[in-house]
Amino acid sequence: MMECSWKAVLLLAFASLGIQYTAIKSLRTVFKGSCHEIPCLQRETKDNTTRFVCEDPSNLHAPLQQQSRKHIIIFATTRSGSSFLGQLFNQNPDIFYLFEPLYHVQQAFTNSSGRIQKQIDRRSLLGAYRDLLRNLYDCDFYFLENYIKPAPKDHKTTSFFRRGASNALCSPPLCEQLQIIDEYLCSTKCRTVNLTLASKSCHTYKHMAIKTVRIPEINDIRTLAEDPRLNLKIIHLVRDPRGILASRISTFIDQYRAWKIWNSTGRKPHTIDLSQITSICTDLSNSVNSGFSKPSWLKGKYMLVRYEDIAKDPVKKAKEMYHFAGLEWKADVHRWIVQNTNGSVAPFGNFKFTTCRNSAETAENWRLHLCYDIVRTLQDVCNMTLSQLGYQVVDSVLQLKNISHSLVEPRTFLPFI
Ligand SMILES: *[C@@H]1O[C@H](CO)[C@@H](O)[C@H](O)[C@H]1NC(C)=O
Ligand SMILES: *[C@@H]1O[C@H](CO)[C@@H](O)[C@H](O)[C@H]1NC(C)=O
Ligand SMILES: *[C@@H]1O[C@H](CO)[C@@H](O)[C@H](O)[C@H]1NC(C)=O
Ligand SMILES: *[C@@H]1O[C@H](CO)[C@@H](O)[C@H](O)[C@H]1NC(C)=O
Ligand SMILES: *[C@@H]1O[C@H](CO)[C@@H](O)[C@H](O)[C@H]1NC(C)=O
Ligand SMILES: *[C@@H]1O[C@H](CO)[C@@H](O)[C@H](O)[C@H]1NC(C)=O
Ligand SMILES: *[C@@H]1O[C@H](CO)[C@@H](O)[C@H](O)[C@H]1NC(C)=O
Repeated sequence: MMECSWKAVLLLAFASLGIQYTAIKSLRTVFKGSCHEIPCLQRETKDNTTRFVCEDPSNLHAPLQQQSRKHIIIFATTRSGSSFLGQLFNQNPDIFYLFEPLYHVQQAFTNSSGRIQKQIDRRSLLGAYRDLLRNLYDCDFYFLENYIKPAPKDHKTTSFFRRGASNALCSPPLCEQLQIIDEYLCSTKCRTVNLTLASKSCHTYKHMAIKTVRIPEINDIRTLAEDPRLNLKIIHLVRDPRGILASRISTFIDQYRAWKIWNSTGRKPHTIDLSQITSICTDLSNSVNSGFSKPSWLKGKYMLVRYEDIAKDPVKKAKEMYHFAGLEWKADVHRWIVQNTNGSVAPFGNFKFTTCRNSAETAENWRLHLCYDIVRTLQDVCNMTLSQLGYQVVDSVLQLKNISHSLVEPRTFLPFI
């Protein structure tokens, strides 16, 4: 009995191997039929049914490239240095960069009085923002047409917001070859954007980067981070809220008129709207809390960068961001930084959004442009935010104005990888 049993075992083993082989083979053919051997991800949907998500079949000719394609979002707030940071990606010839395309959505939701209609709640606006981003990362520019005013004809528009701030939109095939790519030159020479061509051109770039200041919190883009077809890399730009406020006061004259009066007279006007600073700090704090709590949906996708650290050593910080995003470093980017962070050479006048300034010097310049009373008020309201990000508070005018003592504590914010 014992002697012959090994033969039976062997036979059984061969038999089961045969069955397994047939099973695997037939499984493969099933997958080949439905998913072209591209791995499918099992996802739970809202109604608790299981669904398989496969790669978009139109991308099948280049599955590898698809995998390495990065979808970078520069997530920031107005007057925090996001134009400068955007340039670190715009100057890379591998990247199709867009400067604030969400502007068009906001415009469409705003009526002629310039105010967002009360009836349109925040949720639907955020939903529209996400939808547009999702489509743009797919190089679908037709989706944008829903929001451009006046509506494009034959997929052509002359109203593409800040078109000149995107090197890709100012280069062939979307425009003739310009001697130098400059926003003003591009907007006068290139005029219309053919959106069909923009989509085609977008597909030829290795990566895509979009800058936005219109989404309040990191949590608001969670669905994009979770989308398995996107390779989202969030670069969260923060800045000392006192610097943001000073910059806004001198840029947005009408909106911040009361603050300007406060600053110049030293007396707080009754009309002051403190929510203009509390909202900066709440949004910053909520986003930073999301990042610091390291939820699984942000793993490998989140990096916090302080504007002041970029200003101090732009090349070093740029390289760190490139490393985080999985991008190859480019000589073009290096050259641009060197040319634009040294001296005060501004090529075309002194318009408000220029990024060409001596970056290190301007980062803490706000201290000379805000009266102590405003600074103290902001420090009370933003106490938490300031300490989270390593910005020291001051308790005297002397301390505020003594520029040789930096208020930016040395901190290392490692990307969440
Ligand atoms: C899905 O599952 C969750 C938790 O298991 C439950 O609370 C929810 O009611 C379910 N939804 C549906 C549509 O069945
Ligand atoms: C703008 O929105 C307000 C508030 O909803 C509304 O009363 C007003 O009629 C709108 N104006 C225009 C021109 O649509
Ligand atoms: C836009 O570009 C596409 C693709 O090159 C071309 O077929 C189309 O004719 C262009 N549209 C216009 C209005 O020029
Ligand atoms: C800035 O430019 C000056 C003059 O061109 C040069 O001497 C200096 O080394 C530059 N500084 C840096 C940090 O590149
Ligand atoms: C605030 O007032 C000071 C002194 O009057 C001035 O130098 C500074 O430019 C003002 N700041 C802003 C943002 O207007
Ligand atoms: C600000 O926060 C610090 C610690 O984070 C705390 O010691 C201090 O009391 C707070 N100040 C105010 C005015 O809330
Ligand atoms: C300014 O700060 C520096 C560095 O902390 C310090 O040495 C200096 O005494 C300060 N000046 C005044 C006037 O407080």
